Amino acid sequence: LMAEKGGYKHFMLKEIYEQPRALADTIAGRLQSEEGNIYLEDFGLSDAQLAGLDKIFIIACGTSWHAGLVGKFYIEKLARIPVEIDIASEFRYRDPIVTDKSLTILISQSGETADTLAALREAKGKGGKSVCICNVVDSSIARESDGVIYTHAGPEIGVASTKAFTTQLVALYLLALKLGRSCGTLTADSCRDKVEDLLALPRKLEETLELDEQIEKIARDSMNARDFLYLGRGNQYPIALEGALKLKEISYIHAEGYPAGEMKHGPIALIDENLPVVVLVPQNNIYDKVVSNMEEVCARGGKVIAITSGEESGLQGKVDTLIQVPQTTDDLMPILTSIPMQLLAYHIAVLKGTDVDQPRNLAKSVTVE
Ligand code: G6P
Repeated sequence: LMAEKGGYKHFMLKEIYEQPRALADTIAGRLQSEEGNIYLEDFGLSDAQLAGLDKIFIIACGTSWHAGLVGKFYIEKLARIPVEIDIASEFRYRDPIVTDKSLTILISQSGETADTLAALREAKGKGGKSVCICNVVDSSIARESDGVIYTHAGPEIGVASTKAFTTQLVALYLLALKLGRSCGTLTADSCRDKVEDLLALPRKLEETLELDEQIEKIARDSMNARDFLYLGRGNQYPIALEGALKLKEISYIHAEGYPAGEMKHGPIALIDENLPVVVLVPQNNIYDKVVSNMEEVCARGGKVIAITSGEESGLQGKVDTLIQVPQTTDDLMPILTSIPMQLLAYHIAVLKGTDVDQPRNLAKSVTVE
């Protein structure tokens, strides 16, 4: 069994460490640098079909839904098409306004989640086009969608999703670039630049994994907390949700993800010296806003674990704990900040002695409603 885990103690840790390779595999063969285009082999929809879209739905469950929340930022920014995102079990019963000018994007690691499959059938039944982002080849959702973008992350065994999530983000970015090119909102030059950023990402993810030891120490210091709060804004808000979900899933500690600017409307009442607050504060255009949200936590004695980017963020000495991931573009930053989320949950779970790869009450793929 140890061999199957490639020498790692758990599948989850192995899969966390596989991410630089997994990301490279998601990108491989999909970049046409000469044309400044993106090539998605089983995509199934023509450029003309894409250019005629007036609305996009992104539908998924669990961690895949969190990827979708980031995907909305990508698509609206690069292709300027309105995106509605929904949880599959909600979408399927709300009579959504899908037309023949709608594209529904289903995201599913397994390709077998019952609610996501039902949502696909609902969208198709209303005459909309569909494309899925799946990891498992030839799965039900992959077979029934008009097109498929495989993440090529390789088998994911740990119930808590890690490499499937970060590769979903890359696949969504590729899709947004493709949409941007088809819709005329993204120039070939600009697409080429963004592709360069993507190509540099696996190396940066490798660097990010070097935080492992530091995060293990942070886990030791915070493992006895009863609750955790995770805060982020913009495309980091979904990563706050994902960080909280990872912790709940494998360590059984209650955790909540919240938009940092919304904290003052409720969660701020929870803050005291016993509450670890993970704040996602990479250097970007809303950095100052998030810093000021963070200062509100500090002022109330909350124990801040700040995740920032780059060498000189100006936070040194300002917070209890500072984690620094490498700098990348604002779009790709959620992929790097996901890593400390995964490692923190992993180490706390290991220290608590839970069954990391097969947490209680959870299944890798939920094939019943
Ligand atoms: C289950 C798993 C989660 C996963 C969700 C959606 O709840 O435990 O890790 O995110 O299903 O799965 P899917 O295969 O559709 O991405």
